[in-house]
Amino acid sequence: MPKIPDPLTPYGNRPMVTPIVNAVNYEYLSFEVLRQITEGEIDGYTYHRDDNPTVRQVEHKIAALEQAEDCIVCTSGMAACTMMYLSYLSAGDHLIIFHDTYGANFKVSLILERFGVEITWLDANDSGKVNEYLRPNTKMIFLETPSNPLCKIIDIASMRQAADAAGALLVVDNTFATPYHQNPLQLGADLVVHSATKALGGHNDLMAGAIAGSKEHYNKLWFTRQAIGTTLDAYSAFLLDRGLKTFELRSEAMTHNAQKIAEFLESQPAVSHLMYPGLASHPGHSIAAKQMHRGFGGMLAFDVGEAEEDARRFIAALHTIRHAVSLGATESLICIPYLTTMLYLPPERRTTFGVNTNTVRLSMGVEPFDQILADLKQAFECITRGSLKNA
Ligand SMILES: Cc1ncc(COP(=O)(O)O)c(C=O)c1O
Repeated sequence: MPKIPDPLTPYGNRPMVTPIVNAVNYEYLSFEVLRQITEGEIDGYTYHRDDNPTVRQVEHKIAALEQAEDCIVCTSGMAACTMMYLSYLSAGDHLIIFHDTYGANFKVSLILERFGVEITWLDANDSGKVNEYLRPNTKMIFLETPSNPLCKIIDIASMRQAADAAGALLVVDNTFATPYHQNPLQLGADLVVHSATKALGGHNDLMAGAIAGSKEHYNKLWFTRQAIGTTLDAYSAFLLDRGLKTFELRSEAMTHNAQKIAEFLESQPAVSHLMYPGLASHPGHSIAAKQMHRGFGGMLAFDVGEAEEDARRFIAALHTIRHAVSLGATESLICIPYLTTMLYLPPERRTTFGVNTNTVRLSMGVEPFDQILADLKQAFECITRGSLKNA
């Protein structure tokens, strides 16, 4: 019988794209190979919940982007956050989280409290006071910078000092910044979390999460992923791998567009509380300039007019910029976080740290700058033609 070529490397030639290995299980070559895999002598694939070669490929790529020893990829950004909490927190431990982080963390925090984890929520603007909230049982500090949706900035290096004082882990969700602009591990974080659904994937067509850090952390997180089965499917991993090929190009276009649009928005009478870390007027600008590089990312937040209705009319008038949740994609996306990404929180909790009913979050896409600018200009004209509040 003729020898069948290995489908992954036929006749020794490597395919130009990462093959999608959809296998749930793998045939053992021998009991000796089974022993070597079981005893950790060799990396091998046995069962999809444990590992998958297509997934492993993107893990190596994201680890390289975050300058990490390794990375674990899973089914969503929230799966990544949850795996991280489950791996490191126990009943009686204390967790500090900063508002604003992505709203679903609030839901997870309710589950963690049910399991006996103590949680303190702080406003990112009060991060300078974090030492006052440390307890002997503080085991983790979790933050986003820039934060979602208000682009608040936290000094990662000073949070490292606080974490050291408590003997706690420092975890940074780097989804908004992306590794193109910020590498939290180099600034003192122990772990970096991503919703890879966003800029890493970049095309609104896959959902995934990632956690990067040391090999030791990888092993601990791998234990959790294998136990609970949050392993990403191979097809999504393939799409993520494909998205990563243009990650730098897309990031450069987004940050370029965002900086110029932020400068345009500064002069708009209908805009207040404009938050973009690349503007000198942003309270966290100097810290962002210290810890971010190659620009300040593609995310902006601002208040439109005075009421929710003003923000609704503004969004309804846009054509190029799409009204949708999610972020970091090829298309520019806009939403009212109060009505969408912050729905996980009770209403009074949304507004206390600055998410107003007329706050909009704009995620810059890669469309030509002039097209986005023209769209915003005509939408502002539309809403200011009458009085702002008269819908
Ligand atoms: C900063 C941030 N972290 C985590 C998540 C959760 O990611 P996913 O939707 O992939 O679960 C999101 C989602 O919007 C996010 O914006």
